[in-house]
Amino acid sequence: MARDIYDPAFVADVFDHCSARYRRWSSVASFGLIHAWRRACVAALDLSAPQGTHGVDLMAGTGEVWPHLLHRFPDIARITAIDISPGMHAEAVERLHGPRADRISHLCANMLETDLPDASADFAVSTFGLKTFNAAQHEIFARQLARILKPGAPFALIEAADPKGWVLRPAYRLYLDHVLPGIERTFLKGAQDFAMLGTYTRAFGTGETVTTALRDAGLAVKARPLVGGSARLWSGHKPG
Ligand SMILES: C[S@@+](CC[C@H](N)C(=O)[O-])C[C@H]1O[C@@H](n2cnc3c(N)ncnc32)[C@H](O)[C@@H]1O
Repeated sequence: MARDIYDPAFVADVFDHCSARYRRWSSVASFGLIHAWRRACVAALDLSAPQGTHGVDLMAGTGEVWPHLLHRFPDIARITAIDISPGMHAEAVERLHGPRADRISHLCANMLETDLPDASADFAVSTFGLKTFNAAQHEIFARQLARILKPGAPFALIEAADPKGWVLRPAYRLYLDHVLPGIERTFLKGAQDFAMLGTYTRAFGTGETVTTALRDAGLAVKARPLVGGSARLWSGHKPG
């Protein structure tokens, strides 16, 4: 039977497998671009009064966006991070030791089902957690986001996309679909943890289903492509 690559249990398993290597490998495989993209996501967050705020980091992984968030908004009071993969959760909790532990809590939970309280977040960010959702799940995600945000609260989301129409797309696809999995198999003892990236980005396309879902959920949103469309950034707020 064909596996459902959008089954939350399957997705959690994919990230459990790569959790120990995720931080380093995502940085190397993106030639460091992923750091600039996380920074761009945080820069797109229109947070006018960060003092005393409580934010959420959705599909947080190992917490790679936190340094960018706390650098731009040192006065953030609290961040609640959420991720479905126990492996990523364990790596993230490890990262909390030190000065961040009192300000960040990391929950191992499914974003599509979480009961984080209504209107409880002053802002939301999500970096690279949307491609493992299908269109129906984007709708659920958007409704959850709209539910959790306080009226007027901003959000910023970023995801790797398929840069349709970009002159460098053939090279980009070759890299994601063949070169990366090949490097991984050769240098990481036959690992195939990141080989799914090509499949997920191809199915994700330009991320139109995210834009539609956010609008349908009543959020004000602007979407813009980065680097020829190889990533897409959504920023906006919950009206009210
Ligand atoms: C590519 S990683 C991104 C991690 C991190 N935000 C970053 O910038 O590197 C995607 C993350 O989304 C998480 N994820 C996928 N589906 C989820 C769901 N339904 N609920 C919560 N987390 C989910 C995965 O476990 C994984 O850690």
